[in-house]
Amino acid sequence: MRVVKALARAKINLSLDILGKRSDGYHELETVMQSVSLSDELVFRPAAKVSLTVSDPDLAVDESNTVLRAVRRLQEVAGSDRGVEIFLEKRIPPGSGLGGGSADAAAVLVVLNRWWGLNLPLPALAEIAADVGSDVPFCLTGGTALVRGRGERVSPLPPLPAARILLAKPPVAVATAEVYRCFRAEAAGRRPETGKIIAAVKNGRIHQLPSAWGNLLEKVAFELLPELAEAKKWLQNYGLPVLMTGSGPTLFALLPEGFRQTREVRMALAEKGWWTHLGRLTGKGVAVRTCRKGGKESGEKTAGTD
Ligand code: C5P
Repeated sequence: MRVVKALARAKINLSLDILGKRSDGYHELETVMQSVSLSDELVFRPAAKVSLTVSDPDLAVDESNTVLRAVRRLQEVAGSDRGVEIFLEKRIPPGSGLGGGSADAAAVLVVLNRWWGLNLPLPALAEIAADVGSDVPFCLTGGTALVRGRGERVSPLPPLPAARILLAKPPVAVATAEVYRCFRAEAAGRRPETGKIIAAVKNGRIHQLPSAWGNLLEKVAFELLPELAEAKKWLQNYGLPVLMTGSGPTLFALLPEGFRQTREVRMALAEKGWWTHLGRLTGKGVAVRTCRKGGKESGEKTAGTD
């Protein structure tokens, strides 16, 4: 009996620009997304029915869960009622702007597309992904990409070096829909220079990113959660380039080579109840391992580049 394990990697937005409001109520985005080493783990086992268990008891295990939504969409498209037992080890904090739910859904689509023998090509899988959530199409392949539209137009960019990053999330949440709802283009502040970001990515010049980056949702999120603005300033006083990811509330900092105060920074944030994580940029979205029950894991199959 086969068991399949998948790592579903979180994402950050190296820039996030909003070009306007769409007729479907969503916002037209131009964003550079980047996979990071922080991941959830999903374990898939054969079963007659669909079931999901989650390590985090606070997480809803109903049809609002992106994992189950992805399974159902795949069943509908394939006209199949095949089952699967899924265990989700949650390590990406929910509601953090790190795309955890989207990464989980992407892992489900990648694994079951193969496991159920559907073998849908990537464009067809990406269409299903977009149905599940705006960030899911990116998470299917991951790495570094320019993402446009509602999130469904994904253009891969060359991989960046595995630079170290610090993720920091306050002990408060803010709903994505609420942040977008409060967004006003005229009051959003300086827009990111996406062309410069893309050029810096293509040249592998990570240190050039911060002078061009920006997240148009920062101002709204900072108004809703003033401690975010304070924390950003505080981190910047350490000489760190800092940006909010997605609709927040997680901030990320690019750690320069030789930065020695990581421990001090993490301890100070932990004292205020913040969650922190030390990770790296990665070129992988979903990484899949197949294991024989009681046997060894076979080689890693990866969607996305190394
Ligand atoms: O698609 P997803 O469920 O991730 O989006 C959550 C919410 O974020 C949407 O209901 C919408 O309010 C907002 N959103 C948006 N424009 C986007 C992506 C998300 O307005 N491009």
